[in-house]
Amino acid sequence: MSDIRSSYTEQQNFFGGHSPGALIRRFGSPLYVYNEKILRLRAAEMRDLVCLPSFKACFSAKANANPHLLRIIRSEGLLVDSMSPGELLAVQSSGFTKEEIIYVCNNVSGEELIRAEKGSRVVSVDSLAQLERFGCCVRPGAQRGARVMVRINPGIGAGHHQKVVTAGKETKFGINPEDFTTVLEICKKYSLELAGVNQHVGSLFMQADAFLQAAERLLDLVENTGYAGGLEIIDFGGGFGIPYHKYEREERLDLADLGEKFTGLLRNWSRKNNYPGIFIIEPGRYVSAESGLLLGTVQAVKNNGAVRFACTDVGFNILPRPMLYDAFHDVEIYREADGPGETPEAGRTPMAQTIAGNICESGDILARGRVLPEIRVKDILGFMDTGAYCYAMSSAYNQRVRPAEILIEADGAVKLIRRRETEEDLLRLVPCHTY
Ligand SMILES: Cc1ncc(COP(=O)(O)O)c(C=O)c1O
Repeated sequence: MSDIRSSYTEQQNFFGGHSPGALIRRFGSPLYVYNEKILRLRAAEMRDLVCLPSFKACFSAKANANPHLLRIIRSEGLLVDSMSPGELLAVQSSGFTKEEIIYVCNNVSGEELIRAEKGSRVVSVDSLAQLERFGCCVRPGAQRGARVMVRINPGIGAGHHQKVVTAGKETKFGINPEDFTTVLEICKKYSLELAGVNQHVGSLFMQADAFLQAAERLLDLVENTGYAGGLEIIDFGGGFGIPYHKYEREERLDLADLGEKFTGLLRNWSRKNNYPGIFIIEPGRYVSAESGLLLGTVQAVKNNGAVRFACTDVGFNILPRPMLYDAFHDVEIYREADGPGETPEAGRTPMAQTIAGNICESGDILARGRVLPEIRVKDILGFMDTGAYCYAMSSAYNQRVRPAEILIEADGAVKLIRRRETEEDLLRLVPCHTY
Protein backbone atom coordinates (compact mmCIF):
# COMPACT_ATOMS: atom_id res chain seq x y z
CA MET A 1 0.00 0.00 0.00
CA SER A 2 1.24 3.46 -0.77
CA ASP A 3 1.38 5.86 2.09
CA ILE A 4 -1.04 8.54 0.94
CA ARG A 5 -2.38 9.35 4.37
CA SER A 6 -1.83 6.51 6.82
CA SER A 7 0.89 7.51 9.26
CA TYR A 8 -1.37 7.23 12.31
CA THR A 9 -2.40 3.62 11.79
CA GLU A 10 1.10 2.72 10.62
CA GLN A 11 2.52 4.03 13.85
CA GLN A 12 0.04 1.92 15.80
CA ASN A 13 0.48 -1.10 13.51
CA PHE A 14 -3.29 -0.98 13.48
CA PHE A 15 -3.70 -3.56 10.69
CA GLY A 16 -1.16 -5.94 12.21
CA GLY A 17 0.84 -6.15 8.99
CA HIS A 18 -2.18 -6.75 6.73
CA SER A 19 -2.97 -4.27 4.02
CA PRO A 20 -6.40 -2.60 3.94
CA GLY A 21 -6.71 -3.69 0.28
CA ALA A 22 -6.12 -7.34 1.12
CA LEU A 23 -8.63 -7.19 3.99
CA ILE A 24 -11.27 -5.72 1.72
CA ARG A 25 -10.63 -8.35 -0.97
CA ARG A 26 -11.13 -11.02 1.67
CA PHE A 27 -14.10 -9.63 3.62
CA GLY A 28 -15.71 -7.12 1.25
CA SER A 29 -16.15 -3.35 1.32
CA PRO A 30 -17.12 -1.60 3.53
CA LEU A 31 -15.53 -3.37 6.50
CA TYR A 32 -15.24 -2.68 10.23
CA VAL A 33 -11.77 -3.51 11.57
CA TYR A 34 -10.93 -3.67 15.29
CA ASN A 35 -7.55 -3.89 16.95
CA GLU A 36 -7.33 -6.07 20.06
CA LYS A 37 -4.23 -4.42 21.53
CA ILE A 38 -5.77 -0.96 21.43
CA LEU A 39 -9.02 -2.25 22.95
CA ARG A 40 -7.10 -3.88 25.81
CA LEU A 41 -5.00 -0.77 26.40
CA ARG A 42 -7.99 1.56 26.68
CA ALA A 43 -9.99 -0.89 28.80
CA ALA A 44 -7.06 -1.18 31.21
CA GLU A 45 -6.75 2.63 31.46
CA MET A 46 -10.36 2.87 32.61
CA ARG A 47 -10.01 -0.13 34.96
CA ASP A 48 -7.02 1.54 36.64
CA LEU A 49 -8.35 5.11 36.70
CA VAL A 50 -8.82 5.08 40.48
CA CYS A 51 -6.46 3.30 42.86
CA LEU A 52 -9.02 1.92 45.30
CA PRO A 53 -10.11 -1.72 45.61
CA SER A 54 -13.72 -0.51 45.80
CA PHE A 55 -13.49 1.05 42.32
CA LYS A 56 -14.77 -0.79 39.23
CA ALA A 57 -15.03 0.24 35.59
CA CYS A 58 -18.10 -1.04 33.86
CA PHE A 59 -18.11 -1.04 30.04
CA SER A 60 -21.23 0.48 28.57
CA ALA A 61 -22.28 -2.08 25.95
CA LYS A 62 -24.33 0.47 24.03
CA ALA A 63 -21.05 1.73 22.55
CA ASN A 64 -20.26 -1.63 21.00
CA ALA A 65 -22.09 -4.88 21.67
CA ASN A 66 -20.04 -7.29 19.57
CA PRO A 67 -19.71 -10.36 21.86
CA HIS A 68 -16.10 -11.03 20.78
CA LEU A 69 -15.07 -7.53 21.80
CA LEU A 70 -17.10 -7.78 25.00
CA ARG A 71 -15.24 -11.00 25.86
CA ILE A 72 -11.90 -9.19 25.55
CA ILE A 73 -13.15 -6.31 27.70
CA ARG A 74 -14.31 -8.78 30.35
CA SER A 75 -10.92 -10.47 30.35
CA GLU A 76 -9.42 -7.08 31.25
CA GLY A 77 -11.46 -7.14 34.45
CA LEU A 78 -14.28 -4.73 33.58
CA LEU A 79 -17.91 -5.17 34.53
CA VAL A 80 -20.58 -4.28 31.96
CA ASP A 81 -23.74 -2.22 31.79
CA SER A 82 -26.55 -3.06 29.43
CA MET A 83 -29.76 -1.21 28.78
CA SER A 84 -31.99 -3.50 26.70
CA PRO A 85 -32.82 -7.21 26.40
CA GLY A 86 -30.67 -7.35 23.25
CA GLU A 87 -27.65 -5.94 25.05
CA LEU A 88 -28.32 -8.26 27.97
CA LEU A 89 -28.19 -11.26 25.65
CA ALA A 90 -25.00 -9.99 24.00
CA VAL A 91 -23.20 -9.50 27.32
CA GLN A 92 -24.42 -12.84 28.67
CA SER A 93 -23.27 -14.62 25.54
CA SER A 94 -19.84 -13.10 25.95
CA GLY A 95 -19.42 -14.62 29.40
CA PHE A 96 -20.44 -11.85 31.80
CA THR A 97 -22.08 -13.36 34.88
CA LYS A 98 -25.17 -11.93 36.60
CA GLU A 99 -22.95 -10.38 39.27
CA GLU A 100 -20.95 -8.55 36.58
CA ILE A 101 -23.94 -6.97 34.82
CA ILE A 102 -25.63 -3.69 35.77
CA TYR A 103 -28.86 -2.91 33.92
CA VAL A 104 -29.32 0.85 33.39
CA CYS A 105 -32.53 1.43 31.47
CA ASN A 106 -35.15 4.06 30.91
CA ASN A 107 -38.85 3.93 30.07
CA VAL A 108 -39.29 0.18 29.87
CA SER A 109 -42.12 -2.29 30.37
CA GLY A 110 -42.79 -4.39 33.45
CA GLU A 111 -41.81 -7.52 31.48
CA GLU A 112 -38.44 -6.00 30.67
CA LEU A 113 -37.87 -5.04 34.32
CA ILE A 114 -38.61 -8.61 35.41
CA ARG A 115 -36.19 -10.01 32.85
CA ALA A 116 -33.54 -7.44 33.70
CA GLU A 117 -33.79 -8.15 37.41
CA LYS A 118 -33.32 -11.88 36.78
CA GLY A 119 -30.30 -11.31 34.56
CA SER A 120 -28.33 -8.61 36.35
CA ARG A 121 -26.77 -7.68 39.67
CA VAL A 122 -29.02 -4.67 39.95
CA VAL A 123 -31.43 -2.66 37.79
CA SER A 124 -31.37 1.12 37.69
CA VAL A 125 -34.65 2.95 37.06
CA ASP A 126 -34.77 6.58 36.08
CA SER A 127 -38.12 7.98 37.17
CA LEU A 128 -40.48 7.69 40.11
CA ALA A 129 -43.03 6.12 37.75
CA GLN A 130 -40.53 3.43 36.72
CA LEU A 131 -39.68 2.81 40.37
CA GLU A 132 -43.39 2.27 41.08
CA ARG A 133 -43.58 -0.10 38.11
CA PHE A 134 -40.52 -1.97 39.35
CA GLY A 135 -42.16 -2.33 42.76
CA CYS A 136 -45.44 -3.58 41.24
CA CYS A 137 -43.95 -6.00 38.72
CA VAL A 138 -40.78 -7.42 40.16
CA ARG A 139 -41.44 -10.04 42.81
CA PRO A 140 -44.74 -8.43 43.91
CA GLY A 141 -45.88 -9.34 47.38
CA ALA A 142 -42.55 -10.94 48.28
CA GLN A 143 -41.59 -10.46 51.90
CA ARG A 144 -38.30 -9.03 50.90
CA GLY A 145 -38.55 -7.09 47.67
CA ALA A 146 -35.96 -6.83 44.97
CA ARG A 147 -32.86 -4.65 45.04
CA VAL A 148 -32.97 -1.55 42.89
CA MET A 149 -30.82 1.42 41.93
CA VAL A 150 -32.13 4.87 41.04
CA ARG A 151 -30.71 7.25 38.48
CA ILE A 152 -30.29 10.77 39.79
CA ASN A 153 -30.22 13.84 37.57
CA PRO A 154 -27.46 15.91 39.18
CA GLY A 155 -28.45 19.07 37.29
CA ILE A 156 -25.03 19.35 35.63
CA GLY A 157 -24.60 18.12 32.08
CA ALA A 158 -21.57 17.67 29.82
CA GLY A 159 -20.93 16.42 26.30
CA HIS A 160 -19.93 17.19 22.72
CA HIS A 161 -23.45 17.82 21.42
CA GLN A 162 -26.77 18.75 22.96
CA LYS A 163 -28.11 15.34 21.94
CA VAL A 164 -25.64 13.53 24.21
CA VAL A 165 -25.86 15.76 27.29
CA THR A 166 -27.79 13.51 29.65
CA ALA A 167 -28.18 15.53 32.81
CA GLY A 168 -29.65 18.92 33.60
CA LYS A 169 -33.18 20.21 33.47
CA GLU A 170 -33.56 19.95 29.70
CA THR A 171 -32.94 16.23 29.46
CA LYS A 172 -35.29 13.29 29.88
CA PHE A 173 -33.03 11.42 32.27
CA GLY A 174 -33.01 10.79 35.97
CA ILE A 175 -34.86 11.65 39.15
CA ASN A 176 -34.49 15.10 40.72
CA PRO A 177 -32.46 15.01 43.93
CA GLU A 178 -35.36 16.80 45.67
CA ASP A 179 -37.47 13.68 45.07
CA PHE A 180 -35.14 11.44 47.03
CA THR A 181 -37.54 11.19 49.98
CA THR A 182 -40.27 10.01 47.59
CA VAL A 183 -37.82 7.40 46.30
CA LEU A 184 -37.43 6.12 49.84
CA GLU A 185 -41.20 6.10 50.37
CA ILE A 186 -41.79 4.06 47.19
CA CYS A 187 -39.04 1.64 48.20
CA LYS A 188 -40.71 1.19 51.58
CA LYS A 189 -44.14 0.71 50.03
CA TYR A 190 -42.91 -2.23 47.90
CA SER A 191 -40.23 -3.50 50.31
CA LEU A 192 -37.56 -2.66 47.75
CA GLU A 193 -33.99 -2.49 48.87
CA LEU A 194 -32.29 0.65 47.60
CA ALA A 195 -28.96 -0.85 46.59
CA GLY A 196 -27.45 2.04 44.71
CA VAL A 197 -27.60 5.40 42.98
CA ASN A 198 -26.24 6.28 39.56
CA GLN A 199 -25.94 9.20 37.18
CA HIS A 200 -24.46 10.01 33.78
CA VAL A 201 -23.68 13.62 32.88
CA GLY A 202 -23.21 13.14 29.15
CA SER A 203 -20.91 11.83 26.51
CA LEU A 204 -17.47 12.91 25.28
CA PHE A 205 -16.04 15.41 27.69
CA MET A 206 -12.36 16.31 27.24
CA GLN A 207 -12.15 18.30 30.50
CA ALA A 208 -13.23 16.47 33.62
CA ASP A 209 -14.45 19.42 35.75
CA ALA A 210 -18.19 18.88 35.18
CA PHE A 211 -17.81 15.14 35.76
CA LEU A 212 -16.00 15.70 39.08
CA GLN A 213 -18.44 18.40 40.16
CA ALA A 214 -21.39 16.13 39.43
CA ALA A 215 -19.65 13.27 41.28
CA GLU A 216 -19.31 15.50 44.33
CA ARG A 217 -22.98 16.40 44.13
CA LEU A 218 -24.01 12.77 44.06
CA LEU A 219 -21.81 12.00 47.05
CA ASP A 220 -23.24 15.01 48.93
CA LEU A 221 -26.75 13.81 48.22
CA VAL A 222 -26.01 10.35 49.59
CA GLU A 223 -24.27 11.83 52.62
CA ASN A 224 -27.03 14.33 53.37
CA THR A 225 -29.73 11.70 53.24
CA GLY A 226 -27.74 9.57 55.67
CA TYR A 227 -27.80 6.66 53.25
CA ALA A 228 -24.09 6.05 52.74
CA GLY A 229 -23.93 3.05 55.06
CA GLY A 230 -26.83 1.30 53.33
CA LEU A 231 -25.74 1.46 49.70
CA GLU A 232 -23.83 -1.12 47.72
CA ILE A 233 -23.18 0.85 44.52
CA ILE A 234 -22.52 4.48 43.69
CA ASP A 235 -22.21 4.79 39.93
CA PHE A 236 -20.93 8.00 38.29
CA GLY A 237 -21.63 7.07 34.66
CA GLY A 238 -19.39 7.47 31.63
CA GLY A 239 -18.66 10.18 29.08
CA PHE A 240 -14.83 10.08 29.01
CA GLY A 241 -13.81 11.62 25.70
CA ILE A 242 -11.27 10.54 23.11
CA PRO A 243 -9.33 12.78 20.70
CA TYR A 244 -11.05 12.37 17.32
CA HIS A 245 -8.78 14.90 15.59
CA LYS A 246 -5.86 12.52 15.36
CA TYR A 247 -3.98 14.27 12.55
CA GLU A 248 -4.20 17.60 14.38
CA ARG A 249 -2.69 15.90 17.43
CA GLU A 250 -5.65 16.76 19.63
CA GLU A 251 -4.74 16.32 23.28
CA ARG A 252 -6.06 13.37 25.21
CA LEU A 253 -8.23 13.67 28.30
CA ASP A 254 -5.79 14.02 31.20
CA LEU A 255 -6.46 10.70 32.93
CA ALA A 256 -3.57 11.06 35.38
CA ASP A 257 -5.01 14.31 36.71
CA LEU A 258 -8.59 13.05 36.71
CA GLY A 259 -7.54 9.79 38.36
CA GLU A 260 -5.70 11.59 41.13
CA LYS A 261 -8.55 14.00 41.89
CA PHE A 262 -11.18 11.29 41.66
CA THR A 263 -9.22 8.90 43.87
CA GLY A 264 -8.81 11.63 46.51
CA LEU A 265 -12.51 12.46 46.42
CA LEU A 266 -13.67 8.86 46.73
CA ARG A 267 -11.10 7.88 49.36
CA ASN A 268 -11.94 10.80 51.67
CA TRP A 269 -15.65 10.40 51.23
CA SER A 270 -15.72 6.67 51.93
CA ARG A 271 -13.59 7.11 55.06
CA LYS A 272 -15.81 9.89 56.31
CA ASN A 273 -19.01 7.97 55.66
CA ASN A 274 -17.89 4.41 56.40
CA TYR A 275 -19.09 3.44 52.94
CA PRO A 276 -19.08 -0.34 52.53
CA GLY A 277 -19.93 -0.53 48.82
CA ILE A 278 -18.30 -0.07 45.43
CA PHE A 279 -17.82 2.93 43.16
CA ILE A 280 -18.50 2.47 39.46
CA ILE A 281 -17.86 4.35 36.24
CA GLU A 282 -19.53 3.39 32.97
CA PRO A 283 -17.24 4.30 30.08
CA GLY A 284 -18.28 3.21 26.60
CA ARG A 285 -16.57 5.38 24.01
CA TYR A 286 -13.23 5.62 25.81
CA VAL A 287 -12.84 1.85 25.85
CA SER A 288 -13.80 0.92 22.31
CA ALA A 289 -13.80 3.95 19.96
CA GLU A 290 -10.12 4.01 19.10
CA SER A 291 -9.93 0.28 18.56
CA GLY A 292 -12.23 0.51 15.53
CA LEU A 293 -11.74 1.75 11.98
CA LEU A 294 -14.20 1.57 9.09
CA LEU A 295 -12.78 0.86 5.65
CA GLY A 296 -14.65 1.84 2.50
CA THR A 297 -13.97 2.25 -1.20
CA VAL A 298 -14.18 5.36 -3.37
CA GLN A 299 -16.62 4.66 -6.20
CA ALA A 300 -16.70 8.08 -7.89
CA VAL A 301 -15.27 11.57 -7.67
CA LYS A 302 -16.94 14.66 -9.06
CA ASN A 303 -17.33 18.41 -8.79
CA ASN A 304 -20.73 19.95 -8.07
CA GLY A 305 -20.09 23.66 -8.52
CA ALA A 306 -17.20 24.53 -6.28
CA VAL A 307 -17.49 21.41 -4.15
CA ARG A 308 -15.34 18.41 -4.88
CA PHE A 309 -17.00 15.16 -3.79
CA ALA A 310 -15.36 11.84 -3.08
CA CYS A 311 -18.21 9.33 -3.21
CA THR A 312 -17.87 6.09 -1.27
CA ASP A 313 -19.74 2.91 -0.39
CA VAL A 314 -19.90 4.06 3.26
CA GLY A 315 -23.39 5.43 3.85
CA PHE A 316 -24.65 7.13 6.97
CA ASN A 317 -26.59 3.94 7.66
CA ILE A 318 -23.32 2.31 8.72
CA LEU A 319 -21.55 5.45 9.98
CA PRO A 320 -24.31 7.57 11.51
CA ARG A 321 -22.36 9.88 13.82
CA PRO A 322 -21.50 12.62 11.29
CA MET A 323 -25.15 12.88 10.16
CA LEU A 324 -26.51 12.63 13.71
CA TYR A 325 -24.13 14.91 15.60
CA ASP A 326 -21.97 16.59 12.96
CA ALA A 327 -19.30 14.36 14.43
CA PHE A 328 -15.75 14.38 13.12
CA HIS A 329 -13.91 11.20 12.14
CA ASP A 330 -10.41 11.59 10.77
CA VAL A 331 -9.84 9.95 7.41
CA GLU A 332 -6.90 7.98 6.07
CA ILE A 333 -6.29 7.16 2.41
CA TYR A 334 -4.74 3.91 1.15
CA ARG A 335 -3.97 2.78 -2.36
CA GLU A 336 -2.32 -0.22 -3.89
CA ALA A 337 -0.20 0.23 -7.00
CA ASP A 338 -2.06 -1.12 -10.07
CA GLY A 339 1.17 -2.39 -11.56
CA PRO A 340 4.95 -2.39 -11.22
CA GLY A 341 6.55 1.01 -11.21
CA GLU A 342 3.25 2.74 -10.51
CA THR A 343 3.25 5.38 -7.80
CA PRO A 344 -0.32 5.95 -6.64
CA GLU A 345 0.73 8.74 -4.31
CA ALA A 346 2.15 10.88 -7.13
CA GLY A 347 0.55 14.24 -7.91
CA ARG A 348 -1.99 14.18 -5.09
CA THR A 349 -2.27 17.86 -4.37
CA PRO A 350 -4.07 18.56 -1.08
CA MET A 351 -7.49 20.13 -1.64
CA ALA A 352 -10.81 20.60 0.13
CA GLN A 353 -12.98 17.55 -0.42
CA THR A 354 -16.35 16.41 0.84
CA ILE A 355 -16.79 12.69 1.42
CA ALA A 356 -20.24 11.30 0.69
CA GLY A 357 -21.88 7.89 1.03
CA ASN A 358 -24.26 5.77 -1.06
CA ILE A 359 -27.56 6.58 0.65
CA CYS A 360 -30.33 8.50 -1.06
CA GLU A 361 -30.24 11.57 1.19
CA SER A 362 -28.38 14.82 0.71
CA GLY A 363 -27.35 14.64 4.39
CA ASP A 364 -25.33 11.51 3.64
CA ILE A 365 -22.03 13.31 4.19
CA LEU A 366 -19.26 11.76 6.25
CA ALA A 367 -16.74 14.58 6.12
CA ARG A 368 -17.23 18.09 4.79
CA GLY A 369 -14.62 20.32 3.13
CA ARG A 370 -11.63 18.39 4.46
CA VAL A 371 -8.24 19.36 3.12
CA LEU A 372 -6.77 15.99 2.15
CA PRO A 373 -4.51 14.69 -0.61
CA GLU A 374 -6.61 14.37 -3.79
CA ILE A 375 -8.88 11.35 -3.39
CA ARG A 376 -9.26 9.14 -6.47
CA VAL A 377 -11.61 6.40 -7.62
CA LYS A 378 -10.68 2.98 -6.15
CA ASP A 379 -8.83 4.53 -3.21
CA ILE A 380 -9.64 2.89 0.09
CA LEU A 381 -10.61 5.28 2.89
CA GLY A 382 -10.28 4.54 6.59
CA PHE A 383 -12.70 6.34 8.93
CA MET A 384 -10.88 6.40 12.22
CA ASP A 385 -12.11 5.97 15.80
CA THR A 386 -15.24 4.16 14.74
CA GLY A 387 -15.27 1.50 17.46
CA ALA A 388 -18.00 3.20 19.51
CA TYR A 389 -21.53 4.24 18.51
CA CYS A 390 -20.90 3.32 14.87
CA TYR A 391 -21.71 -0.31 14.11
CA ALA A 392 -23.89 -0.24 17.24
CA MET A 393 -25.98 2.56 15.71
CA SER A 394 -26.02 1.22 12.15
CA SER A 395 -29.15 0.34 10.22
CA ALA A 396 -30.15 -1.26 6.93
CA TYR A 397 -31.69 1.97 5.59
CA ASN A 398 -32.14 1.88 1.80
CA GLN A 399 -31.95 -1.89 2.35
CA ARG A 400 -28.17 -1.73 2.28
CA VAL A 401 -26.61 -4.54 4.25
CA ARG A 402 -24.34 -3.97 7.22
CA PRO A 403 -20.66 -4.78 6.75
CA ALA A 404 -18.62 -7.54 8.33
CA GLU A 405 -16.59 -6.87 11.48
CA ILE A 406 -13.09 -8.32 11.85
CA LEU A 407 -10.58 -8.30 14.67
CA ILE A 408 -6.83 -7.94 14.33
CA GLU A 409 -5.75 -10.09 17.25
CA ALA A 410 -2.78 -9.29 19.46
CA ASP A 411 -0.54 -11.66 17.46
CA GLY A 412 -1.66 -10.13 14.14
CA ALA A 413 -4.09 -12.93 13.21
CA VAL A 414 -7.33 -11.84 11.57
CA LYS A 415 -10.63 -13.11 12.96
CA LEU A 416 -14.10 -12.62 11.52
CA ILE A 417 -16.23 -11.48 14.47
CA ARG A 418 -19.46 -10.74 12.61
CA ARG A 419 -20.23 -11.77 9.07
CA ARG A 420 -21.48 -9.33 6.51
CA GLU A 421 -25.27 -9.17 6.35
CA THR A 422 -26.92 -10.55 3.22
CA GLU A 423 -29.95 -9.26 1.38
CA GLU A 424 -31.73 -12.45 2.52
CA ASP A 425 -31.03 -11.44 6.13
CA LEU A 426 -32.99 -8.28 5.49
CA LEU A 427 -36.06 -10.32 4.58
CA ARG A 428 -35.79 -12.96 7.27
CA LEU A 429 -38.37 -11.39 9.57
CA VAL A 430 -41.02 -11.04 6.89
CA PRO A 431 -43.48 -13.95 6.87
CA CYS A 432 -44.50 -15.60 3.60
CA HIS A 433 -42.08 -13.78 1.39
CA THR A 434 -40.77 -15.19 -1.83
CA TYR A 435 -37.51 -14.32 -3.47
C1 LIG B 1 -26.26 5.64 31.47
C2 LIG B 1 -25.08 5.69 30.57
N1 LIG B 1 -23.92 5.19 31.02
C3 LIG B 1 -22.83 5.18 30.25
C4 LIG B 1 -22.85 5.70 28.96
C5 LIG B 1 -21.59 5.64 28.15
O1 LIG B 1 -21.16 6.89 27.77
P1 LIG B 1 -19.77 7.07 27.04
O2 LIG B 1 -19.75 6.13 25.90
O3 LIG B 1 -19.76 8.48 26.59
O4 LIG B 1 -18.69 6.77 28.02
C6 LIG B 1 -24.04 6.24 28.46
C7 LIG B 1 -24.09 6.80 27.12
O5 LIG B 1 -25.04 7.31 26.61
C8 LIG B 1 -25.19 6.23 29.29
O6 LIG B 1 -26.34 6.74 28.86
